[in-house]
Amino acid sequence: MAVTCRQAQPNDFPALGQMLELYQYELSDIWQQDLGADGRYGYDLARHREGTRFYAHVAFEADHYAGFALVAPAAITRTDGSWMEQFFILKRYRRAGAGRALAFHVLNSHPGPWEVGEMPDNATARAFWRKVIAEATAGTFTEMHVTEGSWQGTVQRFHLGGLA
Ligand SMILES: CC(C)(COP(=O)(O)OP(=O)(O)OC[C@H]1O[C@@H](n2cnc3c(N)ncnc32)[C@H](O)[C@@H]1OP(=O)(O)O)[C@@H](O)C(=O)NCCC(=O)NCCS
Repeated sequence: MAVTCRQAQPNDFPALGQMLELYQYELSDIWQQDLGADGRYGYDLARHREGTRFYAHVAFEADHYAGFALVAPAAITRTDGSWMEQFFILKRYRRAGAGRALAFHVLNSHPGPWEVGEMPDNATARAFWRKVIAEATAGTFTEMHVTEGSWQGTVQRFHLGGLA
């Protein structure tokens, strides 16, 4: 599969909004949200559009959107570095390396400290991120379990690009 990845451009944001709807529906059994009056979950992408420590990336298979990633300032154990806020590959393109390709593109785009987290019931995401992060860091990541606060789950912590 020929996957290409790049930082999102302004004309990607309508597609990002639509892919977020698919993502939110897919995760709706573990991330409980209600539809708004317009029949959409809705997701505030404005800060990612501005790009000040909030970033959006998109993946393509040939010329079709295959997924996206949203990056925010690290939020769980630190405030510097990056947090993988949302990450999604469309079902059609899974288990063929698209997620790995997007993950490496995103991680390489933002060197420094990282935190990646998975909600407790998202075993697929946990298997995926453990595999990808182990490869990206040659196994030099730590893992913790967050059990209090507004976000709870498993968090991998690591540095990329040689920063302390
Ligand atoms: C998690 C997700 C991004 C994986 O995308 P993908 O393109 O299928 O991942 P890849 O093909 O690059 O997989 C890389 C490795 O991750 C692991 N992995 C991926 N999907 C897996 C699954 N369903 N079960 C177990 N391991 C899995 C495997 O080790 C895989 O390597 P392999 O195929 O050689 O065995 C995708 O399933 C997805 O978008 N899920 C719904 C949204 C979501 O949960 N996002 C993550 C939020 S933290």
